[in-house]
Amino acid sequence: MVKICCIGAGYVGGPAMAVLALKCPAIEVAVVDVSRPRIDAWNSDRLPVLEPGLDAVVRACRGRNLSISADVDRHVADADIVFVSVNTPTKASGLGEGRAPDLAYWESAARVVAAAAASSRSGAKNTVVVEKSAVPVRTAEAMERILVAHGGCAFEVVSNPEFFAEGTAVRDLLCPDRVLIGGRDTDAGRSAVRALRDVYAHWVPEDRILTTSLWSAELSKVAANAFLAQRVSSVNAISALCEATGADVSDVARAVGGDGRVGGGFLSAGVGFGGPRLQKDVLCLAYACECNGVPEAAEYWRQVVAVNEYQKSRFVRRVVSSMFSTVAGKKVAVLGLAFKKGVGDTRGSPAVDVCRGLLGDGAHVSVYDPMVSEKQARRDTAAAAGKGKGAVHVARDAYEAAQGAHGLCVLTEWDEFRALDYRRVFDGMQRPAFVFDGRNVVDVGKLREIGFVVYAVGKPL
Ligand code: UGA
Repeated sequence: MVKICCIGAGYVGGPAMAVLALKCPAIEVAVVDVSRPRIDAWNSDRLPVLEPGLDAVVRACRGRNLSISADVDRHVADADIVFVSVNTPTKASGLGEGRAPDLAYWESAARVVAAAAASSRSGAKNTVVVEKSAVPVRTAEAMERILVAHGGCAFEVVSNPEFFAEGTAVRDLLCPDRVLIGGRDTDAGRSAVRALRDVYAHWVPEDRILTTSLWSAELSKVAANAFLAQRVSSVNAISALCEATGADVSDVARAVGGDGRVGGGFLSAGVGFGGPRLQKDVLCLAYACECNGVPEAAEYWRQVVAVNEYQKSRFVRRVVSSMFSTVAGKKVAVLGLAFKKGVGDTRGSPAVDVCRGLLGDGAHVSVYDPMVSEKQARRDTAAAAGKGKGAVHVARDAYEAAQGAHGLCVLTEWDEFRALDYRRVFDGMQRPAFVFDGRNVVDVGKLREIGFVVYAVGKPL
């Protein structure tokens, strides 16, 4: 029986291993972590990762061929394949501060693998070590160096980055567009890639399993997110020109995306891309360009982030200038704090940056998000408020948030914000009543008929 161990029971490792265990009942899967509370949560009815369908997957295989345990050394030592899926946050200080990923967890995971494998093995068995987290290109080299330095175990490092998106993890894992496996072009490398390929072949069609070199696989993960970010920044840059010329960004996106070579996805203009990964990966890519002697390419990728910053600050400026050049002392309702619909995650959310801008100008911000907890909303807005003059209220629904407000900003594309009774919203607001749609969810024509003054990203004013 093949044994798999995954170091890191986080947002990537947990769901990825649960689906793997579900689809490969003959493989024993152990997910290990150093955090006891996280392990306990995975073994309870309240999983630490909220993803539609994940509860059912975990319930189906936990105690069968999926275990979640704190016994890191034993499971790593027993495994034929060890996935490493640990956090790689952006460095907060030191060389590459704010741009390079912090590989401290990664390095300690490599040391755990080396020590556990060396202590338990005669060296006859080849451990396949799989990079699952997004890492800078050539990280496998560092991993190999640590493993070699410890000696005593045979291993092969392969790269198998994950491409699922938050909120659709289970669906994306069950039916991935592609699975990518990168390895060395040696007998041992090819056989390690084959071993992993055989695992995925349990449920992924062969033609969707791509194999490449180690470096191509590592780079592809970061590049894929950078391309997604770049598309959003491209359409957002066009949205600014649309507003200045009277063109409609939705029409332009449809016409451009209608070309099969371009494709229609990821062309929704808005208040900017957010989340914990896109910006981090673009900056990681720019840093890799810098470190590898291609500063011009680094500059290109940095512009993707610069346009995103521009889009957020442009939105705040539009709100303030429309409301007679000041929001000081005025109530502004903020609908949506999550970085996209379907998740309660506010990390890197443009909505938080917009709140920061409004609070900085002295607004009284009233926030509502259907999935972000009140505690989280308070924490985010408190951090955004800083020493600003503004005040924050967390509302229980959109109508409460809008009650008595001078302006209303839609910052996450939740379906319920499309379906609001805007007549009721209007009746509760001050005059003139402004709506600033940062996600293009409202029916601009209908709202103008009701009497709102409406601004929508990339739409004729
Ligand atoms: C992203 C990638 O989409 C996944 O493929 C990748 O595996 C994942 O990062 C990761 O590296 O873990 P995620 O961060 O969950 O997934 O979010 P996305 O769905 O990519 O959305 C990112 C941001 O872009 C959101 O703020 C969203 O609102 C914004 N966006 C997206 C737009 O503004 N316009 C669009 O057309 C699409």
